[in-house]
Amino acid sequence: MKKVITFGSFDLFHDGHYRLLKRAKALGDYLIVGVTTEKYDEYRGKLNVVDSLMERIENVKRTGFVDEIIIEDHEGQKVEEIQKHGVDIFTVGSDWKGKFDYLKQYCDVIYLERTKGISSTMKRQKYYNIVRLGVIGSGRIANRFAPEVKFVSGTNLEGVYNPNIDSARKFAQLFELKFFTDKLECFFEKIDAVYIASPHNTHYEYIKQALQNG
Ligand code: CTP
Repeated sequence: MKKVITFGSFDLFHDGHYRLLKRAKALGDYLIVGVTTEKYDEYRGKLNVVDSLMERIENVKRTGFVDEIIIEDHEGQKVEEIQKHGVDIFTVGSDWKGKFDYLKQYCDVIYLERTKGISSTMKRQKYYNIVRLGVIGSGRIANRFAPEVKFVSGTNLEGVYNPNIDSARKFAQLFELKFFTDKLECFFEKIDAVYIASPHNTHYEYIKQALQNG
């Protein structure tokens, strides 16, 4: 018997999920699906999952393709489950291409073509507004913040403020931000939340101004 395993959040269950599970099942005889807990999603930066774990499990079950459902709540669990269940194939959508190649030492790894034009993120936008972030400063800490914040769902880094406009421009180009400015009032108009990455002695003033600008 050929065992197949896949993992996901399956939030706001959609056609992309359905098609993934259908093709996963067709790869073998027995399909195991790992559904993530809220805590684990939070840990990996998915902060705005809408459906509860029970609802997500129900939706996966309802497809009729799944033989066994397990709960994923920690890093490293994929290897554990593959070994425990004697899995032959690990599969996941092509948005993860290459990311799970390390599992090839335990079983086959197959990336299935992702269904175009649909995702939980797109559906979630009906429930939540994306928080528009701005960063004050474009130095060492801001340079670490910008790539990391991409992993946090529900937010988008839109722009940067620096009284040195050249520095702001370079930073905005590097991280492909929508805007850069050396005018604080313009900066606060375009964002909902601010990350202050300026020298310490300027924090108090920037915090005060951020609060006064809502
Ligand atoms: N999937 C897919 N096609 C889509 C969306 C998801 O094949 N359009 C696959 C993913 O590649 C993954 C599984 O469905 O193997 C579960 O994905 P999940 O991350 O729960 O869904 P997404 O819609 O990608 O969620 P998000 O937008 O939160 O990243």
